[in-house]
Amino acid sequence: MSASVTDPATRPTPAPTASWSVLKFGGTSVSKRSRWDNIGKLAAARRAEGGPVLVVVSAVSGITNALQAIIDSAGDAAKQVEGAEAIVRRHVEFAGELGLDVEPVLGARFAELRALAADPRAATAEIPWQAELLSLGELMSSALGAAYLRSQGHPISWVDAREHLRAIELPHQSAWSRHLSVNCHTTPEPGFAERFAQQGDLLITQGFIARDSAGRTAILGRGGSDTSAAYFGALLKAARVEIWTDVPGMFSANPRQVPQARLLSRLDYEEAQEIATTGAKVLHPRCIGPCRERRVPLWVRDTERPDFPGTLIDAVAADAPPGVKAISSRRGIVLVSMESIGMWQQVGFLADVFERFRAHGLSVDLIGSAESNVTVSLDPSENLVNSNVLDALCADLEPFCRVKVIAPCAAITLVGRGMRSLLHKLSDVLAEFGRERVHLISQSSNDLNLTFVVDEAVAEGMLPKLHGMLIASTAMPVDETAVFGPSWLELCGNEAKRSAPWWRARADELLPRAGDAPRYVYHLPTVRQRARDLAAIACVDRRYYAIKANPHPAILRLLVEEGFGLECVSIGELEHVFAAVPGLEPARVLFTPSFAPRAEYARARALGVRMTVDSAYPLIHWPEIFRGTALVLRIDPGFGSGHHEKVRTGGKGAKFGLPASGLAPVLDAARAAGARITGLHAHIGSGVFDAGHWRTVYAQLASIADGIGSIDSIDVGGGLGVPYEPDAPDFDLAGYAAALAELKQAYPQYALWIEPGRFLVAEAGVLLTRVTQVVEKSGVRRVGLAAGMNALMRPALYGAYHEIVNLSRLDAAPGAPADVVGPICESSDVLGRRRRLPNATAEDDVVLIATAGAYGAVMANTYNLRPLPSEDVLDD
Ligand code: LLP
Repeated sequence: MSASVTDPATRPTPAPTASWSVLKFGGTSVSKRSRWDNIGKLAAARRAEGGPVLVVVSAVSGITNALQAIIDSAGDAAKQVEGAEAIVRRHVEFAGELGLDVEPVLGARFAELRALAADPRAATAEIPWQAELLSLGELMSSALGAAYLRSQGHPISWVDAREHLRAIELPHQSAWSRHLSVNCHTTPEPGFAERFAQQGDLLITQGFIARDSAGRTAILGRGGSDTSAAYFGALLKAARVEIWTDVPGMFSANPRQVPQARLLSRLDYEEAQEIATTGAKVLHPRCIGPCRERRVPLWVRDTERPDFPGTLIDAVAADAPPGVKAISSRRGIVLVSMESIGMWQQVGFLADVFERFRAHGLSVDLIGSAESNVTVSLDPSENLVNSNVLDALCADLEPFCRVKVIAPCAAITLVGRGMRSLLHKLSDVLAEFGRERVHLISQSSNDLNLTFVVDEAVAEGMLPKLHGMLIASTAMPVDETAVFGPSWLELCGNEAKRSAPWWRARADELLPRAGDAPRYVYHLPTVRQRARDLAAIACVDRRYYAIKANPHPAILRLLVEEGFGLECVSIGELEHVFAAVPGLEPARVLFTPSFAPRAEYARARALGVRMTVDSAYPLIHWPEIFRGTALVLRIDPGFGSGHHEKVRTGGKGAKFGLPASGLAPVLDAARAAGARITGLHAHIGSGVFDAGHWRTVYAQLASIADGIGSIDSIDVGGGLGVPYEPDAPDFDLAGYAAALAELKQAYPQYALWIEPGRFLVAEAGVLLTRVTQVVEKSGVRRVGLAAGMNALMRPALYGAYHEIVNLSRLDAAPGAPADVVGPICESSDVLGRRRRLPNATAEDDVVLIATAGAYGAVMANTYNLRPLPSEDVLDD
């Protein structure tokens, strides 16, 4: 485990008093003996702190679904009976694992279950019968747990939750919500606490179940067990409610989509509610309200890792400064756009429209309105949205307006207090959304969220990028250590974590190589390793190295030795490769220029390399250059991708490529010039992590190739991303290989080519430079370096992140945040913001800028008449 996990002892623990601690455990936490041992330990630890403890449990994993299956087989009595027997068997087995004699513990419950399965009401699945049946899961798990914990010496008493949780009854409730989705009272009746305490100071009860005023069993519905714990917490005005789950807490994004997501150590109730409502699955949104009402702290903890800090939700956190706390997304959103047909100004129009939604049981989530259009969103987690319901709704709305349903969409929401005061920090985020089709933007009136509804297909890919932008712009203030904890990768990603970069262990060798002036150093074994990783992808027929990433001769020679061809973009690059690699065969060189002058094509022809054209212009105006050649056409697949807008090379806004729909004039021009089109090519951008992009590109190129007929190869370009942040995951090479293999299998007739640049060289290179000055101005500490945007342009040009370390003090502790700046007379001459270099960092220290092997030295310039950095290689 990473050392950066906060010691729980130093965290703001809710004050332990003689009041109750409520500990809730979900299905996976009650389905194994070892997990029950853990529950026993945790409950005993809380009790040792002095207060009484109430344990609330869910049903054993899978049992609620099995009970639901009995309900769903209404009409098939044999199936219902068999379903009940399977549930009995599962509990008998589990009692065996717990070393318990099952009959005295569960015999009566088994009889109840069998009786319910054979009950005449089972045939029609009457709703009160459903509630009785569903309650058995929790009744059985809590009874087993109580018996087991007692057998282990814990003096625990079993309590029937139904005796304490009273369902609220509302006038127009449907039978379903009255029995299967109830809310409960949160204000205790007089004497409640005293009566409750008489049952003991270590109790176990059930989640999910309550009673109505007629004494019948009622079910809390979705998120039921968390909500039960919250109700008990509220009724008892507990010291805290702890929700023990199988994740380390709530995060600033879904860690499955964004591994760099940060643990949210502390949230206020409103923010937590908003995060839970807009996508995070850790807590059910319903369980926050009862705790908020009675100001009971709610703590999310990880059963498997009880020493992890978790997320504490209370009222204190509301004093924190404004900031985005999380970015969440909900899929399956349906938009209903209603266009006026002349009735807009009429009084009651909106009331009529919304009445139709009500009639179909649809609750509206987001609303956007204009003079002649109202668009609303329906959230599937709150609505039963299916095509029948939508068709019926549209038919009902038809007389009022023209209706359009837009689906599937996803709602991406930024959550945090004071969203409106953060707008100036959101420019990159807004620009990112601007590149996609945004159907609706909504800002909540409580200033806690800003939501963008986009096509579902693009949402997932956007999240990691948006999360990174929120951190870079400081809109998400991750330096607030009271609120933001470690990243998911730091907490849980140890297995998936990259090995330390090559330079970590070689400071002694690198330090003497750092002269006074900035110097790049390339580690050739790293380049070789990356080359071999790519060569292992068997379905790729040819690999070219895009030399624009780093044309150092030693790197070119190494890659040619490893079997790579070379891809060049200019005559300068062409002349360079033939000079740097003796004996290089022209057939191994691709020429892929952009808006190059005539002379460059002529020279490329003379050299005998394979040429690419991406417009009809060269073929129409200089046909003689192409006579008798085999040409590659560069296609614009209509979309781009990559780490920054400036490196996206596809789509309408990009200067590259032929639009797939306008190929006829080029094919005619090629024919007229006497050239054969034998290859198709596309390169959509740089710094791509999602293999799905190449899949889409290849499928598109293959279908175009089928139509042309003379194609033998398809080149899907480069663009493979590399991890720049220290905690970023590696590029998923296995996923990339699998996507390519799938395509190759679908289109075996075409040779598959790739032409990566960055992937081969980025991590091999570092930039060494010296500290010039350390200056503090108006509360901002700046560490000045001899190298600036002249030596490494990427941060200034793309806001790119490069890790920066003080190589002279590699083992020193991280210090206060400092901006790392260069010597150039431009405000953009910043290599990194808020970096934690050691406090002792001083003039002449050697600083290493990592992952600088791609687009580093080659993009350096002599601005301000500063000399170019030098370059050096390490052979081993
Ligand atoms: N093929 C073509 C036609 C390209 O234009 C490029 C890069 C590549 C291959 C290689 O892409 P890679 O695998 O390296 O992503 N200066 C920017 C990157 C610009 C990339 C330009 N074209 C940066 O520093 O991020």
